[in-house]
Amino acid sequence: MDRILIRGGSRLEGEIEISGAKNAALPLMCAGLLTDEVLKLRNLPQLADIDTMAKLLQQLGVNITIEDGPMATSAQTGNFSTKAITNYTAEYELVRKMRASILVLGPLVARCGKARVSLPGGCALGTRPVDLHIKGLQQLGAEIDLQDGYIVASAPNGLKGTEIFFPVVTVTGTENLLMAACLVKGETRLVNAAREPEVTDLAECLVKMGADITGIGTGTLVIQGKDTLHGADHAIVADRIVVGTYAIAAAITNGNVELIGARAEHIQSVIAYLEQVGVEVSKTEDGLRVTRSSNTIRSVDITTEPYPGFPTDMQAQAMALMCMADGAAVINETIFENRFMHVPELCRMGANITVNGMTATVRGVPELHGAPVMATDLRASVSLVLAGLAAKGETIVSRVYHLDRGYDHVEQKLAACGASIERLKAAA
Ligand code: UD1
Repeated sequence: MDRILIRGGSRLEGEIEISGAKNAALPLMCAGLLTDEVLKLRNLPQLADIDTMAKLLQQLGVNITIEDGPMATSAQTGNFSTKAITNYTAEYELVRKMRASILVLGPLVARCGKARVSLPGGCALGTRPVDLHIKGLQQLGAEIDLQDGYIVASAPNGLKGTEIFFPVVTVTGTENLLMAACLVKGETRLVNAAREPEVTDLAECLVKMGADITGIGTGTLVIQGKDTLHGADHAIVADRIVVGTYAIAAAITNGNVELIGARAEHIQSVIAYLEQVGVEVSKTEDGLRVTRSSNTIRSVDITTEPYPGFPTDMQAQAMALMCMADGAAVINETIFENRFMHVPELCRMGANITVNGMTATVRGVPELHGAPVMATDLRASVSLVLAGLAAKGETIVSRVYHLDRGYDHVEQKLAACGASIERLKAAA
């Protein structure tokens, strides 16, 4: 397995190109299942999760062609053509690798009235159920059984629009039902829907495909079902979590980095946090510039919340920054249990963090030191890279396949800004 070696202490300076959002790309790829015409997706990031979703879609009968961008690190364009769905099963082998595979469920049931999708099962972030996806589809008229670890769905009498209330805000739950609702009879109202920019990006693409959706960007989405959707050409929104991550890379190294393609309106909570910390974030013609304006990192408390609150997907990175702050910061994780797996690894690097349930208290230390550490999930892995950039000495991050799920060309992008970072390839 590959590892990443970082020699900390370099100040980051330069430009980083922000790719399309993984969490927008995954549902958008599934939206291709809703039409027999071609869905063209531009700005597709080069990530392991995108490859996993492509494999899954190909197994369902989707024909995919990929056009490379001008450079090896550039985004790609994907053409997704689903003339017919030839297989209704999302196998455990792929679903277990990536929970977002559940996003094929809604489109499959809506387009062809049946689906068999493996339950994602236990996962590193706690139990993470999919009950709201299932309940919503049942409310639309689907019959659903759980058999041998699979969700088996059918719609013998077709699907019919209704009001669906989400007691908990769920991003992929909203996306699954939004996609299904585009092809059901009549009106569907999704109430307390997720408002994440990735949901909005999906809704905007669905509208280009002929869907009738109002309330986009709000907590209530109203969909008038159509008999069919058609092809479309859509550029995937820039990844706000990647933006936030590189912003923290600039902050933690006392750096000055321009994030090309970043959209401030999608990360206002993170910008507000960084400004309190003592980091300057300004708009540029092409994106955002992040500069640490003060010598000290001020400690600032964080509570994760659904959008537009502080994203849970930025919690680990912010924690890495708080490790070197001038006081104590309290971090409340309200979305996922068991999302502090980076804590023991950060402590190996000299951080002072205590955890009590879903709350972590980070007491800043003057410096972190390099150590061998292990990535445990996607955002945890990048928090260790960030800590390594600031630490004295060498850090070796193992299990970087987690990182490759959500960050493309991370070593190249950071090295181009002056970081000393390289991938140690596993022996063949
Ligand atoms: C998505 C993102 C993930 C991010 C998360 C929260 C993708 C591919 N992944 O994950 O990166 O961390 O949003 O912003 O977009 N819940 C239920 N029942 C359900 C579904 C969810 O109780 O049926 C709960 C979850 O346990 C969790 C909360 O709702 O406590 C939010 O989860 P959800 O928004 O569904 O996360 P994902 O869509 O899986």
